[in-house]
Amino acid sequence: MKILGIESSCDETAAAVVCDGRKVLSNEISTQIPIHTLYGGVVPEIASRKHVERITQVVDLALRKADVSQKEIDAVAVTYGPGLVGPLLVGVSFAKAFAYANGKPLIGINHISGHISANYIASPELKPPFLCLVVSGGHTHLARVKDYGVYEVLGRTVDDAAGEAFDKVARAIGLGYPGGPKIEKAAREGDKDAIDFPQAKVADHPYDFSFSGLKSAVLNYLNHQKMSGEGISRNDVAASFQKAVVEALTGHVSMALEEFGEKKFALAGGVASNGALREAVRKACEEHGVSFYCPDPILCTDNGAMIAAAGYHEYLKGTRSGLDLNAIPSLSL
Ligand code: KG4
Ligand code: ZN
Repeated sequence: MKILGIESSCDETAAAVVCDGRKVLSNEISTQIPIHTLYGGVVPEIASRKHVERITQVVDLALRKADVSQKEIDAVAVTYGPGLVGPLLVGVSFAKAFAYANGKPLIGINHISGHISANYIASPELKPPFLCLVVSGGHTHLARVKDYGVYEVLGRTVDDAAGEAFDKVARAIGLGYPGGPKIEKAAREGDKDAIDFPQAKVADHPYDFSFSGLKSAVLNYLNHQKMSGEGISRNDVAASFQKAVVEALTGHVSMALEEFGEKKFALAGGVASNGALREAVRKACEEHGVSFYCPDPILCTDNGAMIAAAGYHEYLKGTRSGLDLNAIPSLSL
């Protein structure tokens, strides 16, 4: 079964062909990062236009590299939310046209479910149930994966997503967009114990996350240093901030491992490419005797293969979308 997966929810135009939900035949990603870097973050209108310019080529390339024709595709899976409405609409419209023209089934996929499904590609032996932490630029979810595409959300962020916090702090210390990889690089040269940044707890909701307080603490620190004429070490700020995020995320992971007794744990989303986070969660899993799963960085950030993988399991369950499929920017998991 060959599924074409299409992803355009933010700043990557991506398409992939995946066989039986696990084997990647092609995975084409056209990133817009260099364009949005000029503005310090994603400009939705520019993102939409770039998706329109690139989507046909990206899909053509994915089919060519997989050495399959349009007719040999069994179904088209596309991200229909959550994400930016204009960018989402480009992928959804393209997928509808492709499905209609070729007489193929269309399957709308939740982007967060896509991120989680990247683990099925990275670890062909992985099957639900398992626990999963999805950390990306727009989402932070701790969930129980009860079956393919069936989730129980234990906690989510009440304000900024983890990746958003990385991006905002990177901007504040002049590292630019996207912040995650730049903070990670700077942190390697810094002292993670140099500054004591707080970790917020959400009252009555132990599995929820909050990162806006941490972001404000970093901004206050920078302001204080400036006002008092003391300099800052970007590397120390990056390392201390990264440590606070990693500890907050890992603390929740350990709590869930203890409470639910699940034997498998998976990381997903763009922030899951962070080496410090991967190591800390791997260690927490080891201490609890739990198997740890995490996709390679290229499958952590947005891509079409994860959408095709999620699409395969939806296809088997009989999920089909009509040609009235619409983009839903605030779609929840
Ligand atoms: O999953 P993704 O590509 O897009 C969304 O669905 O949001 O995630 C992008 C986010 C950005 O906020 C980026 O700064 C963050 O993932 N990110 C990282 C790293 N690589 C990407 N954060 C921390 N460390 C990294 N190495
Ligand atoms: Zn994403």
